[in-house]
Amino acid sequence: MNNIDLTGKRAVVTGGGQGIGRAIAERFLISGCAVSLWDCDQPLLTATAESLSRSGTVHAATVDVSNVESVRAATDATVRRLGGVDILVANAGITGPNMKLWEYPVDSWQQVVNVCLTGVFLCCRALVPLMIAQDYGRIVNVASIAGKEGNPNASAYSAAKAGVIALTKSLGKELAGKNIAVNCVTPAAAKTRIFDQMSQEHIDYMLAKIPRGRFLQVQEAASMVAWLVSAENSFTTGAVFDLSGGRATY
Ligand SMILES: NC(=O)c1ccc[n+]([C@@H]2O[C@H](COP(=O)([O-])OP(=O)(O)OC[C@H]3O[C@@H](n4cnc5c(N)ncnc54)[C@H](O)[C@@H]3O)[C@@H](O)[C@H]2O)c1
Repeated sequence: MNNIDLTGKRAVVTGGGQGIGRAIAERFLISGCAVSLWDCDQPLLTATAESLSRSGTVHAATVDVSNVESVRAATDATVRRLGGVDILVANAGITGPNMKLWEYPVDSWQQVVNVCLTGVFLCCRALVPLMIAQDYGRIVNVASIAGKEGNPNASAYSAAKAGVIALTKSLGKELAGKNIAVNCVTPAAAKTRIFDQMSQEHIDYMLAKIPRGRFLQVQEAASMVAWLVSAENSFTTGAVFDLSGGRATY
C-alpha cells in the first residue's frame, strides 16, 4: 500500500457506516486524517465508529443526506468536534428497485434521486463555504459506471449518478480559482450490502460487463480516493476517475 499523507486533515465521509465509505474512512485514518462518519443507520454508525476509533480520531453524525436541516446539524456537530473540514467524500447512496422505467414507482424514483443526487448537492452546499474560507478543500463524489453507461432496469440510479458526474464538473469549474479540487469516481460493482437492494439478475449483468472479470474491491476504491483528496492532487479538478475494471471507454 502506498503512503498517502493526510496528516492533520479533517474529512467527512457520507455513507461511512459500511462498504465503500467505511473502506475510505479506514484508509484516511491510517493516512493521518481525522474522520467524521455521516450515515443514516445509527446502530451501524455507532459500531463502525467504535471499531475505527482504534485507528485515530473518529466522529460520527447520524444524518439523512437528503434532508437540508439534517445536513446542517451534522455540519455544525462536525465543526464543533473536528474544528473544520478539509475533505468531503459524498458517498452515501441507494440503488432503488430494479425495474423498467415505465413500471418504476414514482416514490422510489424520487427517493433514489433525493439520496444519490440531492444528497451530494446538499453536502457540497454545506461544506464548500468552509473550504472557501480556508482556501483549501478536496471533494470526491462517488458516482457510478451506471452514470456513464446507463444500466437497464436502473433508470433512477443511472440518471442520479449521471447527475453527480455533471454536478462535479460544474462545481469543479466554480472552484477552480481556489485551492479546492472537486472530482468524482465511477465504480463498477463492488460486493457490499448495497447488493441486498438489487436483483441477482442485475448483479450478474453488472459482473458480466466488467472486462476484469471480477468485482471491484472496496480497498481499490479507497486507494484512488485517498490520492484524489491529498494535497498532492493540486491541479486536477472537475474530472471523472474510472473504477470500472475496463468497462468504460471514456
Ligand atoms: N457497491 C457497488 O456495487 C457500487 C458501484 C458503483 C457505485 N457505488 C456507490 O458507492 C456508494 C457506496 O456504496 P456501497 O456499496 O458502499 O453501499 P452500502 O449500502 O454498503 O453503504 C451505503 C451507506 O450509505 C448509507 N446511506 C444510505 N442512504 C443514506 C442517507 N439518506 N443519508 C445518509 N446515509 C445514507 C447507508 O446507511 C450505508 O451505510 C454509493 O453511492 C453507491 O451508489 C456502489
